[in-house]
Amino acid sequence: MKRIVVFASGSGSNAENIIKFFKHSKTAKVTNVLCNNAHAKVFERCKKLETKCLHFNKNDFSGSDTVLNILKNEADFIILAGFLWRIPQKIVTAFPNKIINIHPALLPKYGGKGMYGIHVHKAVKENNEDETGITIHYVNENYDEGAVIFQAKTELNSQDTPETIAEKIHLLEQHHFPKVIEEVILAIHE
Ligand code: GAR
Repeated sequence: MKRIVVFASGSGSNAENIIKFFKHSKTAKVTNVLCNNAHAKVFERCKKLETKCLHFNKNDFSGSDTVLNILKNEADFIILAGFLWRIPQKIVTAFPNKIINIHPALLPKYGGKGMYGIHVHKAVKENNEDETGITIHYVNENYDEGAVIFQAKTELNSQDTPETIAEKIHLLEQHHFPKVIEEVILAIHE
């Protein structure tokens, strides 16, 4: 049984979906959710799902080894599900090819610092894109630059707004993210 630690910064709909997906899995389970925002909705979601959710600050993350030590004790895989801080080098080094992020656009388009959540969808709309999508990728020390594992697309039309784009992305994330995580874990098993 592989252990997954999820990082989230906000609502946590992806964290919730991943926890539920692996609840009855023989492959992996979510052991902990780590969150840098004490007011995030993800705490409420985890409480309902009886899953541990811990708050941490910048010092725990990059100024000391507090988060690194939690991960060393509790994680085989690390999943970034709407997590907005850059992962420190020491964590990337300790978990090579074991950290996976989801980005709400078709990278390399609309990635990098400041490109998250609704900001991504606004930029997609401003550029009149006729499609967007999700990218699931390995994490390195630069924002949104690790090797791509999976992408899925959705069509856009002139009626779409940043909010409807967010809904289309949400559907893709809910459908694909847990399955892709499971596939990666199973592939590494073999
Ligand atoms: C998701 O759409 C995720 O792809 C995005 O934030 C949202 C979090 O929603 N991530 C990024 O923008 C990372 N650059 P959630 O908290 O409900 O899972």
